[in-house]
Amino acid sequence: MPEINIERRIKRHIWPETWDMFAVCAPGLEKLLAHELDSMDLKNVGPVPGGVGFSAKLNQAYQVNLWSRLAGRVLLRLKDFRVRRFSDLTRQMESIPWEAFLAPEAKVRFQVTLKESTMGPPSLIVEESFRYICRRMRKMGLAEPELTHKEEPGRQMIMVRGVDRRATISLDTSGEHLHKRGYRLATGKAPMREDLAAALLMFSGYRGNAPLADPMCGSGTLGIEAALAAKNQAPGLMRGLAMEHWPAHRQPTWQHLKGEAQEQINPLNEKAPIYSTDRLAGAINLARQNAERAQVDQDINLYKANFFTLKPPTPEPGLVVINPPYGKRLGSVREAKDFAAKTASRLARVWSGWQVGVVLYRPEWVDFFKLKHAEYLVVPHGGVRVTLLTGLVP
Ligand SMILES: C[S@@+](CC[C@H](N)C(=O)[O-])C[C@H]1O[C@@H](n2cnc3c(N)ncnc32)[C@H](O)[C@@H]1O
Repeated sequence: MPEINIERRIKRHIWPETWDMFAVCAPGLEKLLAHELDSMDLKNVGPVPGGVGFSAKLNQAYQVNLWSRLAGRVLLRLKDFRVRRFSDLTRQMESIPWEAFLAPEAKVRFQVTLKESTMGPPSLIVEESFRYICRRMRKMGLAEPELTHKEEPGRQMIMVRGVDRRATISLDTSGEHLHKRGYRLATGKAPMREDLAAALLMFSGYRGNAPLADPMCGSGTLGIEAALAAKNQAPGLMRGLAMEHWPAHRQPTWQHLKGEAQEQINPLNEKAPIYSTDRLAGAINLARQNAERAQVDQDINLYKANFFTLKPPTPEPGLVVINPPYGKRLGSVREAKDFAAKTASRLARVWSGWQVGVVLYRPEWVDFFKLKHAEYLVVPHGGVRVTLLTGLVP
């Protein structure tokens, strides 16, 4: 009996609703992400530090998860309220239709972030929030969820955020971080995160209509992300989502959206070949395995080459993206600095007319490159802050 009511409730109140949502991204990428989301027909798209807010129906949450190359996860804002006393939190918690979002015996994990908030210690917030969620589920005649403190696969994240006297309760729709597209099992020493690779390409103006070179390709992320973007292949096609486990999940809708995305894959523009090279044969092997899994191995020319003797692969210029070995992660900072200077002089000597997108470990190394129309962005990556530089080789 309760299950029938839940179905009706989902149909009447969950699917027709326009929800406030929030796409999380690495700090520094907010404007690029807002630009990406703007092209998805969403309402109220607005960047704020750490991500981009928007309003959307539930089916659009699948779309953003499926298509965003820059978002780390997509959150559904369930409540936004003023906190006067602790009972405001528990009352709001119990008023949320958890029966639509938590499958029987779901494992839930909380993430509590507090800034100048008087809401109380995080442990109490977790304990009491969970107690009120269970109360609601029991009232509906449903099995209580299980609380987990572990980062285990399949857990459903609930985020509680308190800032001054306001609080929000959000639910993660994505599950594993969205940079985990599902194609990269093999990685080299310092793989680039897929969202950062996509950001470097976007920031450098890549449109998939001119040649692309990734001459220090490692496990191949930049070339693969370029091929996915150029072919209009949705980055989320190969992975699952947390919201697939919700009672409110609509499998036919999700299947339909994935089917549509599959149909929208274009062949690579023949004027826009992709070249991924590395000085190590091992890296080329890894990149090949990853490209095969991403189903873009036929679109990337992969071979062993030393950047310092390599010439541009096509007579007409395109975009060259470089993620060189850098400080802390590979060798010393001094070596990385010399390497960046050497890379800059090689570009100046033989890559004239090419647009460059390069990852630098220190912002002051931008000066080595002397690019025309140079722009840069500072973004955290792998425990350090890296600089993404783009511009034209004069
Ligand atoms: C930071 S890693 C690139 C990581 C890559 N973006 C990925 O996602 O896996 C740097 C790469 O530069 C390569 N490399 C270093 N010196 C090179 C050179 N002179 N020519 C070509 N590749 C080089 C290394 O073998 C390594 O694979």
